[in-house]
Amino acid sequence: MTIQHPNFGAIADDRVIIFDTTLRDGEQSPGFSMTLTEKVRMAEALAELGVDVIEAGFPIASNDDFEAVRRIAEVVRGPVICGLSRAAPGDIVRAAEALKGAERRRIHTFISTSALHMKYKLRMEPDAVLEAVVASVTLARQHSDDVEWSAEDGTRTDIDFLCRAVEAAIKSGATTINIPDTVGYAAPEDLTRIFSTVRERVPGADAVILSAHNHNDLGLAVANTMAAIAGGARQVEGAINGIGERAGNCSIEEVVMAMRTRPDAYPYVHNIETTNILKTSRLLSTITGFDVQPNKAIVGRNAFAHESGIHQDGMLKNAATYEIMTPESVGWTKSNLVLGKHSGRAAFRDKLVQLGYGEIGDNRLNEAFRRFKDLADRKKTVFEDDIIALIDETVVRDHERVRFVSLEVRAGSKGPSRAELELMVDGVTHTAEAQGDGPVDAAFNAIRTVFPHEATLALFSIGAVTEGTDAQARCTVRLEENGRLVDGQGSDTDTIVSAALAYVHALNKLLVKRERREPEAMSA
Ligand code: KIV
Ligand code: ZN
Repeated sequence: MTIQHPNFGAIADDRVIIFDTTLRDGEQSPGFSMTLTEKVRMAEALAELGVDVIEAGFPIASNDDFEAVRRIAEVVRGPVICGLSRAAPGDIVRAAEALKGAERRRIHTFISTSALHMKYKLRMEPDAVLEAVVASVTLARQHSDDVEWSAEDGTRTDIDFLCRAVEAAIKSGATTINIPDTVGYAAPEDLTRIFSTVRERVPGADAVILSAHNHNDLGLAVANTMAAIAGGARQVEGAINGIGERAGNCSIEEVVMAMRTRPDAYPYVHNIETTNILKTSRLLSTITGFDVQPNKAIVGRNAFAHESGIHQDGMLKNAATYEIMTPESVGWTKSNLVLGKHSGRAAFRDKLVQLGYGEIGDNRLNEAFRRFKDLADRKKTVFEDDIIALIDETVVRDHERVRFVSLEVRAGSKGPSRAELELMVDGVTHTAEAQGDGPVDAAFNAIRTVFPHEATLALFSIGAVTEGTDAQARCTVRLEENGRLVDGQGSDTDTIVSAALAYVHALNKLLVKRERREPEAMSA
């Protein structure tokens, strides 16, 4: 049966809507917070990837969240832009305000329906929860034709009560019904059963989109999502690289590639341009400071690497012996030598277009080109990955309050290390000198001298963007302040500069996060 949807029109039965929550549920993961500019950049990348819906944030959570949703709604075209709200009038009105500029918008409202959550979290009787469902969906519909309603902890909800709540939401005007496995407890069989029961039993369920939102606490999020589709779900919610609360959300790239690689098992249609997957995954890693693990399906460094002699031999004879999908189909290409120190601005601009960055403004281009020239002077071979790391930092971070200018370090086996640092804070240049136990410690002490703060260093790690002794180091710094965690990332051929860039990035995120309310009060 074809469903008529306010934003998507007629939806064929084999079409699966991809709902991306990287910027909302994903951003709720400890240390994964993003600045406004980073969120907008990520939303643009998600639009290029072809997701159908971007959940851009939780507007009531903070001014910063509100602003991110508002900005994304204004500038990102293509996907439906969605804002989350609890079942509270203030939340819903705030979400509606943030979404005003969107070409196509959705309000997503949720309330818990499991006995456990109703009793201990909400302290509400089931009938009061049903009333809240009706009131929240009705109000949301006054602000948007496209309304998603979620039964939080849905998979642990008594099935009869779940059906009553879904029926109330549909009657009040919800156009998508989401049944989350909020705590990642369900097994695939549960998902198929719950979705088929709701679809069969609830009047009107065949005229709305049913949606799956699975967390990965038992490593079953993708399997559960495929099982939900078998039960009738036609929207899947997830995040790039599977980021999200605790063990994360269902990984969008895995679900999409399962459909593409196994059309016999999953005969469904989606809109994702799969060759953009790797680029999107890497952008997210650059922004958040977290690389995916090497063996991560689809986007991990080893996902298409063949180490054993037997496998390599098979691959040389016929790639299909050990490869179920081509690396190119998800965006892997050989890391080529692309540009050198004699390359001009026009060649650099062309390369950015080839790498999928489109046309970037003159100011940003000039800044990126200056950094490229600087890199090419210091590094013999400049690979695509180097340019991706450089451009993501330049384009994404140009609104930060604290900006790195320069660093000189004296280190070695004799005596303490010394750092001389120049930072720009709110447009004013400041310099400081500091000592430390080693050059990284000295550089971090110099940052603390210029910009005093109480945050403590919770994690520091170093990796490499490409290979070789002249490779750019990629550092991650995690800062903690009053229970708030933020991660920053920096890359440079000089490891200490890269560490300082990562620290400054984390500091900027902390400044943004200080504005927010306590996460417990807002968690979804
Ligand atoms: O996991 C969950 O239940 C959620 C809802 C707000 C959809 O994130
Ligand atoms: Zn969730």
